[in-house]
Amino acid sequence: MVPGPTNLSVKVREVMSQPQVGHTDAGFVQEFSDTLRLARKVFRNDDGYQYVFTGTGTLGMEAAVAAAVEPGDKVLVLNTGYFGQRMAEINQCYGAEVEELTFPFGSCADPDAVRKKLAGRPFKAVYVTHVDTGSTVCNPIEGIVKEAKAAGAMAIVDGVCSVAGVELDFDRMGADLAFTGSQKAIAAPPGAVLMAVSKGFQSQLEAKKGKVRTYYANLLRWKAVMDDPRTYFATHAVQVLQALHEALREVDEEGLEARWKRHAVNAKTIRNGVEEMGFKLVAGADCRAGTVSGIWTPSGAAPEIQNALRLGHEVDVARGLGENNPKMIRVGHLGNLTEKEARYFVEAFGKVARSLDA
Ligand SMILES: Cc1ncc(COP(=O)(O)O)c(C=O)c1O
Repeated sequence: MVPGPTNLSVKVREVMSQPQVGHTDAGFVQEFSDTLRLARKVFRNDDGYQYVFTGTGTLGMEAAVAAAVEPGDKVLVLNTGYFGQRMAEINQCYGAEVEELTFPFGSCADPDAVRKKLAGRPFKAVYVTHVDTGSTVCNPIEGIVKEAKAAGAMAIVDGVCSVAGVELDFDRMGADLAFTGSQKAIAAPPGAVLMAVSKGFQSQLEAKKGKVRTYYANLLRWKAVMDDPRTYFATHAVQVLQALHEALREVDEEGLEARWKRHAVNAKTIRNGVEEMGFKLVAGADCRAGTVSGIWTPSGAAPEIQNALRLGHEVDVARGLGENNPKMIRVGHLGNLTEKEARYFVEAFGKVARSLDA
């Protein structure tokens, strides 16, 4: 129950232990095409372009930035915890002039504040993390995308901790680009980036040919593979992508809305359970994520709680990132987690809290 990587189904694990095939093997190529079809469904991206390639979520961040900015461009990064900071640093690497709009830890980004910040100023892009895995808040991306587009900026969404676990409708919200990693709510192993790109963003990108300052993370190079998966650009992590295909098939079988609902129900079970024991949640009541919850612990108690859960109950949870490490537990309730497992967590957490008198 760390917030990614998440538990794999037996079938996904089995798929990974098949004999090796090549990345241009006819069966694999067919599976890759189907992966793109299923990835589109997970993003609700009927109108735009869909990408899938080998790498982690951070490569998705980097590919997005490399495609969006040129040196000297002014960009706005919304910071609601940990991953906004990383996005700011990546933008700096690509020569963008970064402004950050930081919200208090545990609060989500406010579209009105974004509108005020953008007013009358030529920002090229606005970056928002949908679910910030560090602070466990879920940002109101539709409102933020709307403000970014109204101000003439590109809207780029980090959906690493949300896609397939929390409602995200790429076409409806009108963002330019959204990406995720395979290892979170999709419940595949780490190692694949999935990305939805709008038609408008894609045509601006095509016009930038020769100016994208990265080699491997250059979407223009990957586009040829997406258009014809028999094309070689770089060798796919074949097993990871085979596993991703199976995981996406399972997401499709469950149904996206049913999956969002299961996540919301499990989130509620966990949050209500720990609140009833007197613990405070990190995220404000209006912005709690369906995929991960943060629980404040007495200062310094988080490592003990984490250890006791692991050793006594076989539950693996994460701690806070950075300075919150000793005083915050982050519990992932994303991917394949069942209602029974969510209830088991609450029971185990209660026993640990009582035994430690936390
Ligand atoms: C919201 C968010 N963005 C980006 C990343 C980076 O992904 P990765 O660790 O797969 O590189 C993470 C990882 O946890 C994340 O939670």
